[in-house]
Amino acid sequence: MQALTYDRYTDSSGLSVTEQPQPEQGEGQVLIRVHAASLNAYDWHMYKGDPTFMRLMQGLRVKERRTVGSDVAGVVEQVGSGVTELSVGDRVGGSIGRGALAEYAVTDAVNLALLPDAVSYEAGAASAMAAVTALQALRDTGGVGQGSRVLVWGASGGVGHFAVQIARALGAAQVDGVCSGANVPMVTSLGADQVFDYGRFEAGGPQPTGPYDVVIDTVVTAPNKQVKRMLADGGSTVIVGALGGGKVLGPVVGIGKRLVGGKLVGLKARAMLASDAAPDVAIVAGWIADGTVTPVIQQTYPLADAVSALRELEAGHVAGKLVITLA
Ligand SMILES: NC(=O)c1ccc[n+]([C@@H]2O[C@H](COP(=O)([O-])OP(=O)(O)OC[C@H]3O[C@@H](n4cnc5c(N)ncnc54)[C@H](OP(=O)(O)O)[C@@H]3O)[C@@H](O)[C@H]2O)c1
Repeated sequence: MQALTYDRYTDSSGLSVTEQPQPEQGEGQVLIRVHAASLNAYDWHMYKGDPTFMRLMQGLRVKERRTVGSDVAGVVEQVGSGVTELSVGDRVGGSIGRGALAEYAVTDAVNLALLPDAVSYEAGAASAMAAVTALQALRDTGGVGQGSRVLVWGASGGVGHFAVQIARALGAAQVDGVCSGANVPMVTSLGADQVFDYGRFEAGGPQPTGPYDVVIDTVVTAPNKQVKRMLADGGSTVIVGALGGGKVLGPVVGIGKRLVGGKLVGLKARAMLASDAAPDVAIVAGWIADGTVTPVIQQTYPLADAVSALRELEAGHVAGKLVITLA
């Protein structure tokens, strides 16, 4: 089978489509015929080994050939022993950590949720990590519910564009966003009340003033004091990711500044890490099926062009998601 692989930590120039043996499912696992895979920042963190501290978990060196990609949607082709919740022929989606950009992928059955017929493979793959992260950041860490006032910082990105829509699905009364001017129309079309262009407000233009109960932040570019000022009494900010920070620690630097520096100005900030995705993949798939949530897919690419897609993602201004189609 064909797969996008690497055999050392590398930038995208070291990735290539190679012929690989079809993986075999073990106990509790399933083999998926991949129809679509979506790209996440997580993928380039993995193949670059960047930030370097990640290598403590992923291996100081890459010793075997690895396949890129975590978010997958496709059809169950074979089931391993002990799998009771999925059957051959089921349409499934989920985040599998590694191995999504291939014609076949193997993962633990618990990582996957059934996709309703109304959810395309592209939508299922696009929503696996990004929408689940948005849901968990809003619902579990932020406590967003009926009547909440929410600001999404990074509202045009993979996580952010889902957060705008999911905040509304959870009952938020006000949902505002921050993104580049080019993406303001897209975020507005998703139902945001006000969308602020960070390029303009950094030059003195209109900026969010709140008050917000929750600020979901995927970039951590604003000073702590500014975020504190826009929060209502008792409000908090949820850190999903952070730009910059350098090669060794990457987002940890921005997250640390917000958590520790925030305390000095009385800012209630919490960082979150998405987990236990499959039940939430199912919730999001239900919302996609009934039209509550619509994944924005900027572009789809064949596997042969996945390296170009990853370069585009690394540049950091994709509107919504990029999806690789395989079948
Ligand atoms: N905690 C978790 O479990 C978890 C899970 C998934 C992702 N993440 C992290 O969350 C972050 C966001 O992920 P994503 O998939 O949404 O990324 P993405 O699709 O690349 O989105 C990035 C967002 O950042 C905005 N942006 C780029 N440059 C900016 C700048 N200079 N100032 C302000 N905003 C800027 C972009 O807006 P424009 O394009 O409009 O410029 C876009 O909205 C990443 O760091 C990722 O690693 C964390």
